[in-house]
Amino acid sequence: MMFVGVNAQSLKSPDGKFEMNFQLKQGVPYYNLKYNGNVVVEDSKLGLRLFKDTAIKFASEIARPEDAKFDLNNGFTKTAENRDSKNETWQPVLGEKKNYINNYNELAVTLNQASTDRSIVVKFRLFNDGLGFRYEFPQQKNLNYFVIREEDSEIDFPTDMKAWWIVADYDSQEYQYQETKISEIPGRWDKAYDANASQKLIKNAVQSPLMLKKEGKNPLYVNVAEAAVLDYPASHLEVDARNFKFKTHLTADRQGAKGYIQTPSVTPWRTIIVSPKAEEVLDSKMLFNLNEPTKYTDTSYIHPTKYMGVWWEMIIGKSQWAYSTAENVHLGKTDFTKLTPNGKHAANNEKVKEYIDFAAENGFQGLLIEGWNIGWEDWFGHSKEFVFDFITPYPDFDIKMLNEYAHSKGIKLIMHHETSGSATNYERWSDKAFQLMNKYGYDAVKTGYVGDIIPRGEHHYSQWTINHYYRIAEKANEYRIMVNSHESVRPGGESRTYPNWISAEAARGTEYEAFGGNNPDHQTILPFTRWMGGSMDYTPGIFQTKLDYYFPGDKRFVKTTLVKQLALYVTMYMPLQMAADLPENYKKHMDAFQFIKDVAADWDDTRILSAEPGDYIITARKAKGTENWFVGGITDENKRDYTVDFSFLDKGRKYEATIYEDGKDADYIDNPQSYHIYRKQITGKTKIKFKMARSGGFAISIKPVK
Ligand code: NOJ
Ligand code: CA
Repeated sequence: MMFVGVNAQSLKSPDGKFEMNFQLKQGVPYYNLKYNGNVVVEDSKLGLRLFKDTAIKFASEIARPEDAKFDLNNGFTKTAENRDSKNETWQPVLGEKKNYINNYNELAVTLNQASTDRSIVVKFRLFNDGLGFRYEFPQQKNLNYFVIREEDSEIDFPTDMKAWWIVADYDSQEYQYQETKISEIPGRWDKAYDANASQKLIKNAVQSPLMLKKEGKNPLYVNVAEAAVLDYPASHLEVDARNFKFKTHLTADRQGAKGYIQTPSVTPWRTIIVSPKAEEVLDSKMLFNLNEPTKYTDTSYIHPTKYMGVWWEMIIGKSQWAYSTAENVHLGKTDFTKLTPNGKHAANNEKVKEYIDFAAENGFQGLLIEGWNIGWEDWFGHSKEFVFDFITPYPDFDIKMLNEYAHSKGIKLIMHHETSGSATNYERWSDKAFQLMNKYGYDAVKTGYVGDIIPRGEHHYSQWTINHYYRIAEKANEYRIMVNSHESVRPGGESRTYPNWISAEAARGTEYEAFGGNNPDHQTILPFTRWMGGSMDYTPGIFQTKLDYYFPGDKRFVKTTLVKQLALYVTMYMPLQMAADLPENYKKHMDAFQFIKDVAADWDDTRILSAEPGDYIITARKAKGTENWFVGGITDENKRDYTVDFSFLDKGRKYEATIYEDGKDADYIDNPQSYHIYRKQITGKTKIKFKMARSGGFAISIKPVK
């Protein structure tokens, strides 16, 4: 049932294609959304349930009916209505395009709850690519402090749709994507996850961003996400599979509370991106636009970085992070020089120098070294609060010598701070840790949050922990350090405000190819979900995809062709871009490695040439400050042909293209390393047909002919 008429407040997008309506029905706020006159979101309820003041104690008390009178979800009257609009262009510090356009019409409705004399504002922004809305809590006599029991923002779709989703979890997003109808989510849910080092699953709920498609003659792509998740828990989406309806479910803290609020305050934005074209969903910058411009006064230290790492060899189990055979170490007490080396410690002087040499010879800027610091012997699974100090190297890692050696070759070492989830410990040590980085000239850190969070009972996506991530980002900025976080909360466009948090993992990355595998369609879904709010440290570039090369009989393998690994550098936006394989494997394929050496990490322009979630993505990008273009195409488990139309190139100009394609007999299972490289002169009129192997692709680097 759609409402219209005098009581509804209506808002249109700048291009007039979207219309949203707001209405109070018996004092309860609702909104709906239309695209080209068709209902995309039916009347959907808004509101929050609160705890009585701060008298919250334990989760068992959370559903007390007498608390209902404190809720902010009923008994409202509209007391004001304000409209605004914006059309601005802004430049991200690092981005997919030079200019991001922020163009919307805004409606802010002030609602008063007479019984408690409290007012809230519901603010809607309607863009040409969809809707964002949030709640605002002005400071007032009767609303100074409160605790959220739940935010109940609904999104009610009129029909069943195809959905690409992962299970909701307060601690992890490291899951395989499922492709089902909305109505089929509950039936699949129990089979949709595997074990994780830290895990608190929310039954029959899915994570955001959620990708949806209304199939049929006039398809419509819909993306549901959130933006600007600051001082607030990250949200999940409860599924009402019969009514095709979703509702927010905030990450609870250890007491079952979902946000401690002091007014004035605002919630994150709930976002609904809608387009008949999948390509336009990937192109949307709505989540970034809904974040505030940065307040950082100097961003000149933030730069795109291509890096290698002493890393993959530990992930696959060839080497170790730990230095010794000890099983129980005490930081500040154990004398690590007296321990028995395990003989498999990768972060040693000799090996690191070899990696530095190779990275320098091939034009990289950074080298990550994990396992450089004491504490890895018992780092995991013991809820050990003082697990690392982040400043003391192992005896075989000469931090001064290695940094000087790296700098003499134009390489910066990338610091590694695995916290093991012990965020309290990291906060205690972060100043000293960042000072050490400044002293030796590190300008980037990879952080990590493997395992359950300390403070114990907090979750990776609860309000406290989210505030922790931003405290670290802000502190890193004070020390002019860029941050790449693993196992942290997924981004919702916050890099506009915190541009030194340049990347995050926060999804199932390449490492999972060694921990159980990623499906061949995984990389065709991630840009529609995890990537909507910011870049991911996916760590591609594995050439030796079969792990039986190291361990005879080992069944593990990276489920792509070698060429698809190349294409990921273009289809995945990564200002921090890792070439993750071992130098010895690149040395065997230096011709293919050339693409990784050449590809840019920061862009003036991006064109999504063609895309379908779960099937394929073809992307062209123009490298920052140059006339060079790169094209990448990937497919899922199916072979696929695609003809690239180069009409995005300048008219009348000649270019030289270096083309990397799957070999005729390439196949991600049977023959992943078969590839073919050739050069060709092209213009804007050229068309080239590619035959992508199963889980294969193609990659092209293009330079104007002088
Ligand atoms: C998990 C991270 O994703 C991985 O990149 C890292 O090597 C390990 N934790 C150890 O910190
Ligand atoms: Ca991880």
